[in-house]
Amino acid sequence: MRCQTSGMKAAILYWSKTGNTEKVALAIAEELAAAGVDVVFRRTEEAGDIDFFSYDLVCVGFPSYRWHPPRPVDDFLKEKHREYRGRGRVETGAPKVPGKHALVFCTYSGPHTGIREAIPAGLYVGQFFEHLGFSVLGEWYIVGEFHGSLEKSTRGRLGDIRGRPDEEDLDEVRRRVARLLERVWAMDIGGHHSGTRGEG
Ligand SMILES: Cc1cc2nc3c(=O)[nH]c(=O)nc-3n(C[C@H](O)[C@H](O)[C@H](O)COP(=O)(O)O)c2cc1C
Repeated sequence: MRCQTSGMKAAILYWSKTGNTEKVALAIAEELAAAGVDVVFRRTEEAGDIDFFSYDLVCVGFPSYRWHPPRPVDDFLKEKHREYRGRGRVETGAPKVPGKHALVFCTYSGPHTGIREAIPAGLYVGQFFEHLGFSVLGEWYIVGEFHGSLEKSTRGRLGDIRGRPDEEDLDEVRRRVARLLERVWAMDIGGHHSGTRGEG
């Protein structure tokens, strides 16, 4: 794995209020780094200067807030969209840009309707990347305790979710990262791997 992914660059951009999303972001970062990927790790608040096109893989993580990304994440993505549209990067038909991949990960507590409270947020965020020609490799939904609400953490649709994401959840995330790298490698075989090539 180390050889296959060496030279690959990934950005992990996340927003987290009570730490759940940050735990997942760290697990993803560790697994990518262990596979030899060059990882940049930033909170979205500090990622305004990140050029998505400078990375082979951009991972964006956030909690579901009323089945949307939180406002600061939405603002961050909209600003990026404006910027890229101005640079002609948002094209009709959204032609694929070879070697550019995105991963969306969303933590949620699902107290009312379960995972359906997270899926709209994940799909919505994925669209920002598809519009740029990135291949969205997945939307991952990870259960997280609803900190500050015992009721929502114990009596919701998902039952007792205190302490989540726990080690088991994070191990599953790590396994998924390993599988994702295999997919990226398979997709990029044949000279499509873009390395650090971007629009500069
Ligand atoms: C203001 C607010 C709104 C939330 N809305 C939802 C929601 O609609 N659906 C859901 O599943 N979880 C909801 N949650 C729970 C969070 O998505 C969940 O606990 C998440 O893992 C928190 O991530 P963080 O610790 O990284 O901030 C909400 C939490 C807060 C604080």
